[in-house]
Amino acid sequence: MNPKFNTLVAKTAKAHEGGGKARIESQHKKGKLTARERIHFLLDEGSFEELGMFVTHRSSDFGLENEKYLGDGVVTGYGKINGRLVYVFAQDFTVFGGSLAEAHAQKICRVMDLAMQNGAPVIGINDSGGARIQEGVVSLGGYADIFYRNTMASGVIPQISAIMGPCAGGAVYSPALTDFIFMVEKTSYMFVTGPNVVKTVTHEQVTSEELGGAITHASKSGVTHFASANGLECLTNIKRLLSYVPQNCEEDAPAILYEPTNELRPALDTLIPDNPNQPYDIKDVIEQVVDDKSFFEVHKLFAENIVVGFARLGGKSIGIVANQPAFLAGVLDIHSSTKAGRFVRFCDCFNIPLLVFEDVPGFLPGTDQEWNGIISNGAKLLFAFCEATVPRITVITRKAYGGAYDVMNSKHIGADMNYAWPTAEIAVMGAKGAAEIIFKKEISEAADPAGKLIEKEKEYLEKFANPYLAAERGYIDEVIIPSQTREKLIKAFEMLKNKVAKLPRKKHGNIPL
Ligand code: HXC
Repeated sequence: MNPKFNTLVAKTAKAHEGGGKARIESQHKKGKLTARERIHFLLDEGSFEELGMFVTHRSSDFGLENEKYLGDGVVTGYGKINGRLVYVFAQDFTVFGGSLAEAHAQKICRVMDLAMQNGAPVIGINDSGGARIQEGVVSLGGYADIFYRNTMASGVIPQISAIMGPCAGGAVYSPALTDFIFMVEKTSYMFVTGPNVVKTVTHEQVTSEELGGAITHASKSGVTHFASANGLECLTNIKRLLSYVPQNCEEDAPAILYEPTNELRPALDTLIPDNPNQPYDIKDVIEQVVDDKSFFEVHKLFAENIVVGFARLGGKSIGIVANQPAFLAGVLDIHSSTKAGRFVRFCDCFNIPLLVFEDVPGFLPGTDQEWNGIISNGAKLLFAFCEATVPRITVITRKAYGGAYDVMNSKHIGADMNYAWPTAEIAVMGAKGAAEIIFKKEISEAADPAGKLIEKEKEYLEKFANPYLAAERGYIDEVIIPSQTREKLIKAFEMLKNKVAKLPRKKHGNIPL
């Protein structure tokens, strides 16, 4: 072998050592994988091509001139997941705590630029102490370079962030700008200011895990879409998510071969309880309708009154938005509106057709909701549906009341096909409230006001609590037997597959943020 090759072999081996054996062991002791181990697990065997392995920093402050690591604390490159191209960067906590500085940021920007140029998803694995303190403002510039690219890439290529260690301060804003965030329980956290600052400023005592751990962000803030028990589960979930999405906004999502069989689902015919106020689990409906075991829920622990996620129907990728009667009666509130609104936007960016299951009693009343802006937050979901140009189908299983009827992908705001089950109740409001208002005088003057109210409530129910008035107007295309739902949807999405819809010429809309 040419002796010059030995230099290359030695340098490569050195780069692979990262911050050295002791720090790798310390990383493992914390229950974390190293950057290279993560990439190795994430990508198809042998597909990873590393870029910038020998990049080092150029800083000479605080003794950094004597401390250089090949790669500068981030492993970057491209490879494949299930045979499809992806770009990846993984911060290496064993080198300066994965902290970000000039050269480190340039490496990340390089893969982001390539991902944009070549139209493939970018996956960022975050495990970092934040801005490299020794490099000062140059680190801040590096972050901003990434934020800018995150924003430019939004809606062009899917962007995925995995938080697999610390991610604090302004560093949180790169993941926040991406499409999906994955976190790992007990080994990752995200916050703008950590527990010490919180204690000083607000006198609250809180641990890192409580303040910004995976479960906190999956259930309370909604910042993360997925919380995994460990690193391998997290990376496996990323691979699964990618199987539902296209490479970029110009392509369709990958479909899998589908052999038509008997599509009737008799279990759906008995799923809706006789009592309209009794809950049932909308996920049972979803599981029956979509291809076997294909439902992949997003934001599972957040705003559980609405369910969103990806699935396959007849082998093709779809996005599902469904009111959940089993949680808060499926009411729309601030969190459920923003959760669903953002999901609808993602699907629309990336040509993924939308299927909506509707059973919604209306918007949640109360000072908490009004004072925290249910008006502008509810409008986000409304705006997202109105603007979506992908094929859109709604199935009303039971309640479709008030403004929520309009918002939940009604015909009026651009849905392509609207089905209702015979159990559907499409009306301005619930029967009791309606009877109390329109028969107020009659009820108060009756010898038995309570009895009169029940009588009038029944009258209203019989007249309006059904899908037929809406069907007469054409707001509903067809009232269907529940067991036929899957068959109807497969046919309708097939019929809509070449849909062309254009928005009016504009710079961009002004979604009520
Ligand atoms: C340089 C850093 C570093 C940083 C950690 N290290 N953070 N080096 N800049 N920001 C180094 C440590 O010196 C140490 O080096 C190694 O990484 C591991 O760190 P430990 O502290 O030993 O690890 P651990 O106990 O696990 O604690 C991790 C940590 C802690 C919680 C992240 O290191 C920490 O608090 N770091 C500082 C965080 C911070 O304040 N960052 C700046 C925030 S401001 P050796 O050589 O001993 O292995 C910011 C602004 C961004 O990020 C704005 C963007 C717009």
